[in-house]
Amino acid sequence: MKIAVVGGGGREHALAYKIKQSKLCDKLYCLPGNAGTSKIAKNVNIGAEDIEKIVKFARDEKIDLVVVGPENPLALGIVDELENAGIKALGPKKDAAIIEASKSFTKEFLKKYSIPTAEYETFDNFNDAKSYVQSKGAPIVVKADGLAAGKGVTVAKTEEEAVKALEDIFIKKRFGEAGNRVVIEEFLEGEEASFLVFSDGENILPMIAAQDHKPVYNNDEGPNTGGMGAYAPAPIVNEEMQQYIIENVMKRAIIGMKEEGRTYKGVLYAGLMIKNGKPYVLEFNCRFGDPETQAILPLLESDIVEIMLATVEGNLNGYSLKWKSEYSVCVVLASGGYPLSYEKGKVITGLDNVEKLDDVIVFHAGTKLDEKGNIVTNGGRVLNVVGLDEDFKEAQKKAYDAIKLINFDKMYYRTDIGNKAYKHL
Ligand code: AMP
Ligand code: GLY
Repeated sequence: MKIAVVGGGGREHALAYKIKQSKLCDKLYCLPGNAGTSKIAKNVNIGAEDIEKIVKFARDEKIDLVVVGPENPLALGIVDELENAGIKALGPKKDAAIIEASKSFTKEFLKKYSIPTAEYETFDNFNDAKSYVQSKGAPIVVKADGLAAGKGVTVAKTEEEAVKALEDIFIKKRFGEAGNRVVIEEFLEGEEASFLVFSDGENILPMIAAQDHKPVYNNDEGPNTGGMGAYAPAPIVNEEMQQYIIENVMKRAIIGMKEEGRTYKGVLYAGLMIKNGKPYVLEFNCRFGDPETQAILPLLESDIVEIMLATVEGNLNGYSLKWKSEYSVCVVLASGGYPLSYEKGKVITGLDNVEKLDDVIVFHAGTKLDEKGNIVTNGGRVLNVVGLDEDFKEAQKKAYDAIKLINFDKMYYRTDIGNKAYKHL
């Protein structure tokens, strides 16, 4: 088969790595990919949101399966366009991708199908939203309705902070159209987990749980990022919790989407807050997580292409996933300054030495080859270093030991990725 992965981050490198292992994969493309994917696939210089060009490429090259990484093309309807052209694609259609693209849709949906989530109200103007914040007090959470690259959510510790977030959204229009509406919700105190499933529209196939680390600094301090590291399986999600999530969150969501006439095919990702032993949905994403995918996929033993095809063909019933009995710890190496401003074009050294290590995988994110053939930084999140071991502590140590070999100017990473797992092990 000819397979194309859309996107160019760490998630897409991990997808390409796993797809490449499949006996079903003869030729692999990444659009646009990065320096890492160029070693295992053919990079094609088409942006992930350039849907017209992607469809033309897939048609011209007779691609058998397109795997879509990021949310934006999904929300724009890339899967509808590919299917119209007769090309199989992994991911929900536009009407189902709304589960990530509109927080107000999703909150109403969660309520309707009795899926546990935080109490909330939706507003379309500053004054009413401000009055609501003042009546509820802090802490409180303000969320811009639409896609905002993970930056549209403010967990406000004070009323002033919440009102400032509302000003940013409604008055300064910081998120453009995504900020025509806000969801304001109750603050939930607990620990987060990410739970991903494949769904063919009716059946689900759960993956192992992971835990992301969104804030930029150690101890979850500082502003939220796309994710500074992840590990899997996350022991906070024990067997009993997993069953609860499958029955009360994932199955209800898939049944609900079908009832809404928005049949959901692809990967559904629930961002959960676990409070007093009970999971609440903070958000749904219509795709694989980043960096969760970099932690989850190295542990998957099953052929991912077989599963992806069964997902797309509505045929998941009877499948199960096989996992290695190991842990993975993925640490993100970022450009100093991220998630605010940062420089690009820094030469990365040491990757050759890391390649020689056992049980360590490096997935590239914002990297590219410069004209001299050097691998240079090309984004906020640059590399994902994954350590693998049967013992959690060893997996963490392998990742951090490997990082000591890598360097680029102003390289920054959190030094506490995985520490939260210990209290559950
Ligand atoms: P979201 O994009 O909705 O998942 O929100 C981004 C991040 O904000 C989450 O990963 C949480 O860390 C935090 N967050 C969102 N909603 C809440 C909530 N109701 N209570 C506490 N933290 C939250
Ligand atoms: N790791 C967060 C996300 O993929 O949205």
